[in-house]
Amino acid sequence: MNKILVTGGAGYIGSHTVVELLAAGYEVVILDNFVNSSDKSLEAIRKVSGKNFDFVKGDVRDSVVLDNIFKAHEIDAVIHFAGLKAVGESVQKPLEYYDNNLISTLHLLEAMKKAGVKKFVFSSSATVYGETEVYPFDESFPIGGTTNPYGTTKYMQELMLKDISATSDLQVITLRYFNPVGAHESGEMGEDPQGIPNNLCPFITQVLVGRRDKLSVFGGDYDTKDGTCIRDYIHVVDLAKGHVCALKKFDSGLRLNENGGYFDAINLGTGKGSSVLDMIAAFEKAAGKKLNYEVVDRRAGDIAVCYAKTDKAREELGFVAEKTVEDMAQDSWRWQSTHPKGFNS
Ligand SMILES: NC(=O)c1ccc[n+]([C@@H]2O[C@H](COP(=O)([O-])OP(=O)(O)OC[C@H]3O[C@@H](n4cnc5c(N)ncnc54)[C@H](O)[C@@H]3O)[C@@H](O)[C@H]2O)c1
Repeated sequence: MNKILVTGGAGYIGSHTVVELLAAGYEVVILDNFVNSSDKSLEAIRKVSGKNFDFVKGDVRDSVVLDNIFKAHEIDAVIHFAGLKAVGESVQKPLEYYDNNLISTLHLLEAMKKAGVKKFVFSSSATVYGETEVYPFDESFPIGGTTNPYGTTKYMQELMLKDISATSDLQVITLRYFNPVGAHESGEMGEDPQGIPNNLCPFITQVLVGRRDKLSVFGGDYDTKDGTCIRDYIHVVDLAKGHVCALKKFDSGLRLNENGGYFDAINLGTGKGSSVLDMIAAFEKAAGKKLNYEVVDRRAGDIAVCYAKTDKAREELGFVAEKTVEDMAQDSWRWQSTHPKGFNS
């Protein structure tokens, strides 16, 4: 297997994954419309990897663009990152989320079918487990019960992929990410959210770098060791390597169904939970300064504890996350402190 189509490859996780793919010897074609990224991340990939790749500016919902890519390149597998991902925004703009996230996947699967491309790695999320209070989150848990349109699009896409792979030769590995954080250790690329960050760690680094005044910690009265929410933070470079492991899995003799199809869902996390206050302490240490924060009321829809069961990733993919919370904080801070305004610095 050699040439990989990476949709959303200019984005946060996609760009780090392309670096790992190029390092592992794959050729890459990126398709992105820059709805939440810029071409500066593409320059960073070239600089960090010292390698080149093909890039197509376009929308994954555009079947003509897709057909042209599959005609021009002999694609062996697709990694599908492209999608809208802001939970809060998805509540305000559900139509945009269902349209972008579902239509892109359907059109991509149709184009793959036409071109005879069978291998598909999908960016799913721990959010598909819904509001369960049993942890660690195990892939055998029922999914659904999602609390916002973003999560529901991930859940619906998993259902679609499962149904289609059951009756065709489509081979799917869906990766359920826990909380991706951190940046490339070079400091040349990292998370560059447009507008107000949705996630904790970019918010922390933006406060530390002086772009924002204060962090609000949502809820200090959860039933956890320090009252704040516990999450499973995974370094984005570890996460990126998990995608290389998933591609290798396709070549390792999958147990295909009678149609030649395959579906599996695998968690990518560290299996360890850190509280919000743990993360604040790690970032304060990395930056060598105190963070301005305030504990405020709980936010609707947040569960107290969420971390991954990681046995399946280890057994099926040979994947174990290696980087620590300290690595995550140091690498994020290196990126943010040298690029206070992200790629536009
Ligand atoms: N970052 C997280 O916390 C997290 C957690 C779980 C799952 N995920 C999923 O992982 C994937 C990647 O996330 P990310 O954090 O890198 O997000 P991101 O926004 O940085 O990257 C997504 C990329 O897809 C592109 N894109 C979006 N819609 C497109 C379309 N219709 N056509 C072409 N390009 C399009 C964007 O321009 C962007 O470059 C997403 O599917 C996201 O839902 C992310």
